[in-house]
Amino acid sequence: MSYNLLKGKRGLIFGALNEKSIGWKIAEKACEEGASIVLTNTPVSIRLGQIDELAEKCNTIVVPADATKVSELDNLIEKATKHLDGNLDFVLHSIGMSPNVRKGRTYDDLDYNLLSQTLDISAISLHKILQICRKRDAINEWGSVVALSYVAAQRTLYGYNDMADAKALLESIVRSFGYIYGREKNIRINTVSQSPTLTTAGSGIMGFDNLMDFADRMSPLGNATAEECADYVITLFSDLTRKVTMQNLYHDGGYASMGMSFRAMKIYNEGLEYRDVQSDKSHK
Ligand SMILES: NC(=O)c1ccc[n+]([C@@H]2O[C@H](COP(=O)([O-])OP(=O)(O)OC[C@H]3O[C@@H](n4cnc5c(N)ncnc54)[C@H](O)[C@@H]3O)[C@@H](O)[C@H]2O)c1
Repeated sequence: MSYNLLKGKRGLIFGALNEKSIGWKIAEKACEEGASIVLTNTPVSIRLGQIDELAEKCNTIVVPADATKVSELDNLIEKATKHLDGNLDFVLHSIGMSPNVRKGRTYDDLDYNLLSQTLDISAISLHKILQICRKRDAINEWGSVVALSYVAAQRTLYGYNDMADAKALLESIVRSFGYIYGREKNIRINTVSQSPTLTTAGSGIMGFDNLMDFADRMSPLGNATAEECADYVITLFSDLTRKVTMQNLYHDGGYASMGMSFRAMKIYNEGLEYRDVQSDKSHK
């Protein structure tokens, strides 16, 4: 169902790789809600993913850009505003990748060059996008920027590795730039901290299936899906949330406020019973 929440708005969407991507779902919803958008991703992701299908569906173009490269971002913003025939009303940063995770390096054995890449790709890229947009004055008054985060920025989660540091930095950039862009142009910047979601980036995390099950059991409303995340982000791009800025907004079914739930405790108890049975057996 469409509410025309983004009628007449122009947006730039980073990070749609394939139809599982959170960025893909947000792009689809933005179009359904009446926005005109431009899509972007790295040249390799464009080649290996399905973003061209999405572009066809949304009747738009894909401009290749590596979000760590300032010159490519500059070219992207120029092309996007030209194609849309006007400045941007919203920007989605849906970018995350850890070369340390990819290479199986654990948090106590990080490669520091790879750590720099993790931070650059997953967090500093947002700063680069914002700085270029500001220098080009490419975002309209009362525009909205959303980046996707994860609760590992606040709490330690086994296996999330250096992405936790990247998300903490991302959320800090949102506050620091949110102040500047807010006071100057009423542009708001927020992160949405999403439940674990089965996507290409998500499934790179160690023990992801069990993590999803645990988060689901811990959340009174259950895990939020990528489609539900898209619904939420659309409201943040719309005029209904004009005074929300510099926030990290949890979209996780209540997970971030929980300590232990009945459903998670049940599994834990079953595990303990199993352990006791095994240890009884070993004593016989
Ligand atoms: N999947 C989850 O469990 C989950 C949970 C919370 C937050 N998030 C965040 O959501 C965002 C989107 O991830 P997703 O789960 O949809 O996975 P995804 O793999 O579909 O999307 C990640 C995107 O980042 C892009 N990317 C990587 N390096 C880039 C670069 N240098 N320049 C431009 N783009 C680059 C990839 O091409 C890809 O499109 C990420 O920030 C991720 O950390 C994901």
